[in-house]
Amino acid sequence: MSTLPIILLPDPVLREVSIPVERVDDELRRFADAMLETMYDAPGIGLAAIQVGQPRRILVIDLSKEDEPNAPQVFINPEIVKCSDDVSQYEEGCLSIPDYYADVERPASITATYLDLDGTQREMTADGLLATCLQHEIDHLNGVLFIDHISRLKREMVVKKFRKLAKERAPTRMVG
Ligand code: NI
Repeated sequence: MSTLPIILLPDPVLREVSIPVERVDDELRRFADAMLETMYDAPGIGLAAIQVGQPRRILVIDLSKEDEPNAPQVFINPEIVKCSDDVSQYEEGCLSIPDYYADVERPASITATYLDLDGTQREMTADGLLATCLQHEIDHLNGVLFIDHISRLKREMVVKKFRKLAKERAPTRMVG
């Protein structure tokens, strides 16, 4: 199994709205495995397909601690159907915005519907870190990043920093 390259800010692909998955088949299951592998390798606790350049509504999450066995969760076509009024705040990060963290306030508890890897329709109510992580990843499917939830000033500073880093990564152009 090999890992997939993760797309970084400010790549405009991250702003694409992902398309619903029409069929849960072996190809999709293999893709979910590659996403999990990529997430574990990074390492991270959540990854949306668009972060590896595929605009499909699928995301993976694993909130197990380091000393615990892996507990992968795959959500296909996830949709938030209920949000709590009370909010909670977590310091979030993102594999597409490495080494940047900021506090984000979101509904403390949500109910989401989704398909599992067998294509079965499911519903889950989540709170705590799982609620935050699901909302962060579902945002990705809609082209939204966690920095969209912080102040404009902070966001502009981060984007500027990553634009500069992207330029430094780009191969030197031949002139003449
Ligand atoms: Ni993210």
